[in-house]
Amino acid sequence: MEKKWWHEKTAYQIYPKSFCDSNGDGIGDIRGIISKLDYLQNLGIEILWLSPVYLSPCADQGYDIADYYRIDPRFGTMEDMEELLKEAKKRGIYILMDLVVNHCSDEHEWFKKACEDPDGEYGKYFYIEKMVDGKVPCNWRSYFGGSVWEPIPGTDRCYLHVFHKKQPDLNWENPKVREEIYRMMNWWLDKGLAGFRIDAIINIKKPQSWKNYPADRQDGLCDMAQVLADAQGVEVFLQEMKEHTFRPHNAFSVGEVFNAKEGELAAWIGEEGCFSSMFDFSQTVAGKSPLGWYASEVPTPDEYKRCCFGSQLQSEGIGYLSNIIENHDEPRGVSHYLPSEAQTERGKKLLAAMYFMLKGLPFIYQGQEIGMENMEFSAINEIDDISSQDEYRVCLEAGLSEAEALQIVSHYSRDNVRTPFHWDGSRNAGFTAGTPWLNVNPNYVTINAAEQEGNPDSVLSFYRSLIALRKNPEYREAIVYGQLEPVLEEESGIMAYFRRGEKQDIFVAGNFNSDSRRISLDEWRGKTVSVLLDNYGKTPGEEIIGEDGSLTLKPQQAVVLVVER
Ligand code: GLC
Ligand code: CA
Repeated sequence: MEKKWWHEKTAYQIYPKSFCDSNGDGIGDIRGIISKLDYLQNLGIEILWLSPVYLSPCADQGYDIADYYRIDPRFGTMEDMEELLKEAKKRGIYILMDLVVNHCSDEHEWFKKACEDPDGEYGKYFYIEKMVDGKVPCNWRSYFGGSVWEPIPGTDRCYLHVFHKKQPDLNWENPKVREEIYRMMNWWLDKGLAGFRIDAIINIKKPQSWKNYPADRQDGLCDMAQVLADAQGVEVFLQEMKEHTFRPHNAFSVGEVFNAKEGELAAWIGEEGCFSSMFDFSQTVAGKSPLGWYASEVPTPDEYKRCCFGSQLQSEGIGYLSNIIENHDEPRGVSHYLPSEAQTERGKKLLAAMYFMLKGLPFIYQGQEIGMENMEFSAINEIDDISSQDEYRVCLEAGLSEAEALQIVSHYSRDNVRTPFHWDGSRNAGFTAGTPWLNVNPNYVTINAAEQEGNPDSVLSFYRSLIALRKNPEYREAIVYGQLEPVLEEESGIMAYFRRGEKQDIFVAGNFNSDSRRISLDEWRGKTVSVLLDNYGKTPGEEIIGEDGSLTLKPQQAVVLVVER
């Protein structure tokens, strides 16, 4: 694999609204981020992905952009953004912004002009169709519920939105739209941005006709997954995007790619693929039902492990994945993947080690590094997220009681990860001097960065050690590039794998069970096997394999070992 500047790094996602508020209005902002760059540098972060800070009415928290060239005043000014780029650079941190170009906001001037004159130039920037007898063109369901079509008041037209109705889809078939987008991307890259995280990108290519698909719920509509399976040629647009933007800038791009078709991985992230990397979502979609959250199931540790290994084996020799346990759209990883009895500090470190040591670029979502957990919502009106509101409705329609619906939505809600970051034990977790836009999780009193900072046994310190290990020249080659080889796959609740480097083998094992498990491998015989990291506190360098050649993993123990060749 050709080495790239970003391969060795560790990335971190900031959800600006909830990271740090510098001016007491209850909303996190760019100056708040600047004030925490030292914290991030100390952690070892070298790539930062910012969720959107562009001008936006925030119907979908900034994923609805009204002007790609402006910073939303809630987050600060363009000068703040420039200062962030400069200050980050001083600390060796590269910045990625979110590229949301499947759609913009209905408050973008393009869309306003399109509504004024649907047959004019800007009408062609969107998908605008005539309604016949008041009927919309087809039965596709938006990701946030209801039809993808919304009438334009005062006309016989409607426009397409695969997300919220305040997020009209841009018409990628129109070369002018593509040109505008590339111009905007280059404008940002010229400013010093290192690249982009590319939002919802699979949606930019629609099937050729607005045809109906079989309904998959009572509402008579069909899931977008069905629709997208029929769309051909998204890679043609994306190759063009790459040639016009990423390639000339040597920029990094990581795609949010759901529903990729089989055998397509190389087209996405291969040597000549359109993106540098893409997120592995195999574990996040595991157990999810097309009927909605109420019919979904939380994956077991064995399912989790199978998903990770599956993606690793698929991508080997093709491209470099980006690995996560959570992001701004998912529940907290520790609340989702760990069995409830394992949701302890020890368990959090276990999950951290398991995903962090996979091959690929690790992304940490803000708060993950201190072990932040799901929120306990006590009423639906405490949840702001639009997809949660929709899923709540779907639960009730499916016959669940309000209490049951709340329980389901509480588990999966995107607001679980959007609560303010826990900086310290003071009021509002040190996030704001004012009233936070979303309630702070009351457990900040015990789970917060200040408390963990000086404690060598904290979750934060464990993450710091993982990142430091990835950077350690002694092991870097194996950790960054070593092929992943699963072992002991049949052992329930045990996740174990080798990373085969050029000079050495790294062995990673974790026990998700609540009792001790003994494991042994022939390969260890006669070799020096020593500890690099252990969440039970064995010091690096110590021998860990017993006389009989076996290793006993205590409950929720995770170890990273080096096996000398
Ligand atoms: C992506 C984003 C999500 C957003 C959606 C629409 O999935 O991650 O937060 O709601 O796209 O832009
Ligand atoms: Ca603020």
